[in-house]
Amino acid sequence: MTARATDQEVCIDLGDRSYPIVIGEGLLARIAEFDLPKGHAALIVTNTTVGPLYAGALAQALASRYPQVHVLELPDGEQHKNWDSLNLIFDALLGRGSDRKTVLFALGGGVVGDITGFAAACYMRGVPFVQLPTTLLAQVDSSVGGKTAINHPLGKNMIGAFYQPQLVLCDLDTLATLPEREMSAGLAEVIKYGPIFDLDFLDWVQAHLPALRARDPQALAHAVRRSCQIKAEVVGQDERESGLRAILNFGHTFGHAIEAGLGYGEWLHGEAVGCGMVMALQLSLEMGGVDAAFVERCTRLIADAGLPTRGPALGADRYLELMRLDKKSEAGEIRFVLIDPPGRAVVRPAPDAVVRGVIARCC
Ligand code: NAD
Ligand code: GLY
Repeated sequence: MTARATDQEVCIDLGDRSYPIVIGEGLLARIAEFDLPKGHAALIVTNTTVGPLYAGALAQALASRYPQVHVLELPDGEQHKNWDSLNLIFDALLGRGSDRKTVLFALGGGVVGDITGFAAACYMRGVPFVQLPTTLLAQVDSSVGGKTAINHPLGKNMIGAFYQPQLVLCDLDTLATLPEREMSAGLAEVIKYGPIFDLDFLDWVQAHLPALRARDPQALAHAVRRSCQIKAEVVGQDERESGLRAILNFGHTFGHAIEAGLGYGEWLHGEAVGCGMVMALQLSLEMGGVDAAFVERCTRLIADAGLPTRGPALGADRYLELMRLDKKSEAGEIRFVLIDPPGRAVVRPAPDAVVRGVIARCC
């Protein structure tokens, strides 16, 4: 691999499935310089928004490494993270008679990354894939760690597989075209790492929030690198979420209920997670893990990042019904990621009455 001195690298350490995450500028144009999976053909999977911006130059860069390079544009949006989009990838692969030496490149945000990764896991029982995340959220979270999935109308990310990419390139230049609302959504997952794992990073994010929102390149590079380091440390210890990895779901139990309850795409995933963290912090307060000052501080940070802090009024019964379907639930008992104490997260059930009280206060 050829990295520039200004590129930064984080390694996901998973034995013979280890891979690097490279963070830098101009990476898509330089992709042929990196250690790419060998193959006869490359399929770039992207969407109708990202494709016109970046797929042409990427295809050109990949042409020096693969005899055939094709581009597939999926419809854009969380509501298309489903079987239909997945089948479009299989149609494109089978329609060209693609064999196991075909490499998939996921060019886009978390939706494209999650669907493409799942397609790579399934096609001929597994073909190599590379993550090229183009949203802040995907660069700090979804492209890393090998969770792949599509949604089901009854629950988010319910159909999927653990399947690791062989390389992740976080090209910071792509963030220049990201809409403001999507930047805020990405900041939710950046903020997440502080309360669950690293209070120094929480201080840093708080101090650099204006720079991050102004897309200062150095601030973004640090936020992406530190987020990936924390995620790499967690995933390296617990790839398949038998324990520790669940802490990365802080805010997601409430957040996934908001997304499914409103209908996918109504709120952005990061918005639902931002508000879900506020609800999880309130629950942590009720359960004695944090004090009111910490809840207030984190809630203010989430609001300052441009994220909602009040949940939609779905009704407590509906929230509970949706959260019982969460993947962390056991025998119908909802298990929440709670902060206890600040800088550390635990996974625990909470009494229904207390959860209802939090929903009533936050929605
Ligand atoms: P997204 O993929 O929908 O992208 C957000 C929007 O930005 C889309 O409209 C997209 O077309 C557009 N876009 C992407 N890159 C752009 C660019 N550079 N310039 C302009 N527009 C651009 O949403 P997301 O926030 O990236 O990802 C959310 C998804 O990620 C959810 O489905 C969530 O479940 C999943 N996720 C997965 C994991 C995981 O570990 N696998 C972790 C977190 C989230
Ligand atoms: N985003 C949660 C995880 O990767 O585990």
